Amino acid sequence: MNDISTLNGDYPQVTLIDHPMVQHKLSILRNKDTSSKQFKELVKELAMFAGYEATRHFKLEPVEIETPLCKMTSQTLKGRKVAVVPILRAGLGMVEGILELIPAARVGHIGIYRDPQTHLPVEYYCKLPEDINTREVLIVDPMLATGGSATAAIDFIKARNVPSEQIRLLVIIAAPEGIKKVVEADPDVKIFTCAIDDYLNDHAYIVPGLGDAGDRIFGTK
Ligand code: PRP
Ligand code: URA
Repeated sequence: MNDISTLNGDYPQVTLIDHPMVQHKLSILRNKDTSSKQFKELVKELAMFAGYEATRHFKLEPVEIETPLCKMTSQTLKGRKVAVVPILRAGLGMVEGILELIPAARVGHIGIYRDPQTHLPVEYYCKLPEDINTREVLIVDPMLATGGSATAAIDFIKARNVPSEQIRLLVIIAAPEGIKKVVEADPDVKIFTCAIDDYLNDHAYIVPGLGDAGDRIFGTK
């Protein structure tokens, strides 16, 4: 397993969310005996942690309120609205976690699967909020393996005139290969991940990883 010091010199755009609660939940998630029900719950919870880190830069503005004791100047979120964009299928498992943090976020969908032979991304669906270029965009997908799916999703969103600085990629496990590909394609897109694993195997699966995230969320295998 990599800690951020092995990569961060090269990749300052990557945030590793190494909170103890995250590491604990990740161990259960990775375990091959974890049920699909618990897997789904953990993906949602880890998405909340990733969403928490990925919104740390949001700006605040003062708001006058009154507590039961006195008036005070407090802080409220200012500025841009948010779009959360899952990469189908597995990214769907992270949407609810983000919406619990940001209930007013709009949801776009990008359908991409990896060809099992070539491991290259095949795109089959894209429906994004019309005003997506005015929003902070959080792309969600539990796995960043070769980086093919994530870079294709980023390209779809940039084609809608969203500046790279407004795009953040939130994943649960990243392979070094995927991080390299996304950063080389666009160094201004920030990546948030709960783990950086060792390598990709011959089938482009992340090792140690957690297996096929989509199958484990939806119980399809
Ligand atoms: C998985 C995962 C990512 C992609 C990552 O999806 O959810 O989208 O693979 O791999 P990459 O970085 O090499 O592109 P998959 O293709 O298995 O589709 P699914 O979610 O529909 O099962
Ligand atoms: N997609 C997955 O679901 N798992 C991997 O390890 C790689 C891609």
